[in-house]
Amino acid sequence: MSSGHDRDLLRHHGDVDAEHGLLDFAVNVRLDRPPAWLRQRLAAALDGLGRYPSAADDLAARAAAAARHGRDADEVLLLAGAAEGFALLPSLRPRLAALVHPSFTEPELALRTAGVEVTRVQLDPADGYRLDADAVPEQADMVVLGNPTNPTSVLHPAAEIRRLLRPGRIVVVDEAFTDTTPGEPESLAGCREPGLLVLRSLTKMWGLPGLRAGYALGAPELLAELGRTRPHWPINSLVLEAVIACCEPSALAESERAAAEFEEHRAGLVAELAAIPGLQVAEPARAPFLLLRVDDGEQVREELRARGVAVRRGDTFPGLTADHLRVAVRDPEQNALLVKAFRDVLGWG
Ligand SMILES: Cc1ncc(COP(=O)(O)O)c(C=O)c1O
Repeated sequence: MSSGHDRDLLRHHGDVDAEHGLLDFAVNVRLDRPPAWLRQRLAAALDGLGRYPSAADDLAARAAAAARHGRDADEVLLLAGAAEGFALLPSLRPRLAALVHPSFTEPELALRTAGVEVTRVQLDPADGYRLDADAVPEQADMVVLGNPTNPTSVLHPAAEIRRLLRPGRIVVVDEAFTDTTPGEPESLAGCREPGLLVLRSLTKMWGLPGLRAGYALGAPELLAELGRTRPHWPINSLVLEAVIACCEPSALAESERAAAEFEEHRAGLVAELAAIPGLQVAEPARAPFLLLRVDDGEQVREELRARGVAVRRGDTFPGLTADHLRVAVRDPEQNALLVKAFRDVLGWG
C-alpha cells in the first residue's frame, strides 16, 4: 500500500480537475471568495500584522469557537485548516490507524508519510456506504472518518460513530462539511468523550481555502499532545480574526441559511441527474456534492471538459473507480448547465 503511484493518487485534489475557464463542479467550496463582510473584517485586521499574535488573541478565537459548540476554550486547538489537523495526527503516536473509505485521502497520506501503519475499512456501495462500527478492527487505536463524507455525501449517524469509541482509541471525525447540513444533526463537535477528536474547517462554508483556517475540538490533554510539535505562533492573526468573525451569531445564521439552500438545490439536482438513463446518483446525499456512477466515466469526464464543465474524478478515492465522478451542488442556473452537459454527453440532449 505504499507505491509512489498510489501516493500521487491520494494527493489528487479537485482543484487540479478545475482548470481555469471551466465551469467548476470539481471543487466543493461554496463561494468563489469570502463574503464582503468577512473580507472587510480581514482587511481591518491587516494593521494587526505588525505584531506577533498574542496568547490573548489566541484565547479570544478559541473562546469564540468554544462558545459556538458549547465547550470550553481549552477544548479548542486552532489549526491552519483541517488539513493541519491531519498532518498532526502522527503526534498522537497511533500504532494502527483505521481509515474509513471511500473518504478524503489526506489523513491516510499524512499517517503513512509519518510511518504509521494503516488499514482501510472499505464501506459497501451496496449498503449505501453506511458506516458499520463493527467492521473496524478491534486493534485499531485510531479511527478516522468524515461526516458527512467526501466523496460519497453520506451523513453517518452520530450514534454509530460513538460506537467506535473505546478506552485507548482515538476517533477522529473530519467535520469539514458538517456546517453544510442544516442544524448539524449528526455533529459530535459538542460531545465530551476522552478519545474523540473533531476537526472543523472554515474553508468550505466561507470561501476561504486560501486562508487555511480551522480548529480541533477535544479533551485538553489530547489537544496538547496533538499540538506538541508545532512551531511558535502556528496560527496567524488573520485566521484568528476569521474564526471570531465566523462564530458570531450573524455568521451562524448565514451559514444555516446557506445549508438550507444547499438542501434545496441538491434535491433539484439529484432529481434531474437521476432521471438521465445510465447515470446513477449515490443516495441519500447530505453534503453539497454528489457521487455519480456512469459507464466509461473517464471518457464522460473528458467530454464534459470539452463542453467547458469540470467534474472531480473519482478513481483517486480508495474503493472507487474511473466510472465514479463527484460533482458539486451549485445554484439552480449552474446546476442546469451541468445537467444539460451530462444529457448531451450521454446522448439524451
Ligand atoms: C473532507 C475534507 N476534509 C478536510 C479538507 C481540508 O480542509 P481545510 O481547507 O480546512 O484544510 C477537505 C478539503 O478538500 C475535505 O474535502
